[in-house]
Amino acid sequence: MLLSKTFVTIYHLLLLTVTCVRAAAVEKVRPVEEVVAIEKRGQCQATLNTALSVAHTLQNHYYNTGNGQYNGGSLWTDANTLEDLHNLMLATGTDDFSTVADNSYIGRMANNPSTNWNSVINGSNDDAQWIILALWKIADYKAARGLSNTNYINSGIAIYNIIVGQWDGTCGGGVWWSSAHTYKNAITNELFLLTSASGYLRFKQQAFLNNANLVASWLLNSGMRNSAGLWNDGLDSNTCGNNGQTTWTYNQGVIASGLAALAAATGNKSYLDQAEITLDATISHLTSNNILKESCDDAAAGGPVCDADQQIFKGIWTKHLQYYLDNANDASRTAKYSPFLGSQTSAVFHYGTDANNDIGSVWYAPNQGGSVFTPKTSASGLEAHVAAAKYGPC
Ligand SMILES: *[C@@H]1O[C@H](CO)[C@@H](O)[C@H](O)[C@H]1NC(C)=O
Ligand SMILES: *[C@@H]1O[C@H](CO)[C@@H](O)[C@H](O)[C@H]1NC(C)=O
Repeated sequence: MLLSKTFVTIYHLLLLTVTCVRAAAVEKVRPVEEVVAIEKRGQCQATLNTALSVAHTLQNHYYNTGNGQYNGGSLWTDANTLEDLHNLMLATGTDDFSTVADNSYIGRMANNPSTNWNSVINGSNDDAQWIILALWKIADYKAARGLSNTNYINSGIAIYNIIVGQWDGTCGGGVWWSSAHTYKNAITNELFLLTSASGYLRFKQQAFLNNANLVASWLLNSGMRNSAGLWNDGLDSNTCGNNGQTTWTYNQGVIASGLAALAAATGNKSYLDQAEITLDATISHLTSNNILKESCDDAAAGGPVCDADQQIFKGIWTKHLQYYLDNANDASRTAKYSPFLGSQTSAVFHYGTDANNDIGSVWYAPNQGGSVFTPKTSASGLEAHVAAAKYGPC
């Protein structure tokens, strides 16, 4: 019994050594003091006003101040919605939603020193990182208004370090989609690139940059980007090859914002060209009449309807195009995507919005084209308006 246990332990140690040799490891990071962010303001006041009006409707129709969650929402989409409100306030220079962060479920967790983030994120390594993005965007807003943001920054860092522990050598690297360790996919690793590179831009710790370089190199060699330039959902768990699953719009946006953050951190503009392969492929392949169309958006009666997660994907693409342009900080790259952002905000306004100022899931067809209406679909439309307010034509 004892002998075989010892044998097993030695065997595991050997396995561990082999794994460490095969794949470089990612590193944990330290808590930090307050950091001040500088945010470029929006340029188009008319679109900002539309965005503000949509955001007020969203809060009135769906936000529950009792539990700090959105009725009909979910943890990861609520995180995106909170991020959106702060992205909007930074773009407008206004404070309409200044009390939402501390009232929100996520803010309550951030402000409570005994929060166990492992139990909040419950093994979802993608959901966890949407929460990091929300926490750090709230931190940017609070810094811009001279408010304390340490709890938000360091809660994000605590979650980030959990994700670091989810990287291993299976398929040559990458973090697992969930703590069940059954799937390595695009979104979780695109998010890890973005949280690492934008973590470096905010906090200037070398470990963030080392991690960002590692995950970018792993992603770009993973085979998850197909010959059309679009990212499929993930890797086949038997072969580690591209599994050919759906090219969701959000995957095509988050890779771009991650690569732009890395370009800003390293000065390597080639990452921007890599990102634009995918941004351009999105515009060519995931649109109808130049308007984003998710594969589950179907205006025809009886066609597929996007599920609770998918309803927010298109807006996330526009938000991450905004973040891409924030970090690319390049007038000619902005000019290239500006008309497309203008088309999206116009479609959301003229096609996607109903008489109650709610925004539906379908943007490309008149009269909301058979949309479902949820807090996710309104947040998605809000994201399109804010991105266009910053970078679209006016
Ligand atoms: C946590 O994850 C487990 C396993 O996926 C699931 O069964 C459970 O419902 C989750 N709990 C919450 C609160 O989401
Ligand atoms: C710049 O980025 C490209 C990816 O687009 C990468 O292959 C190359 O190694 C990077 N250069 C440096 C000096 O890191």
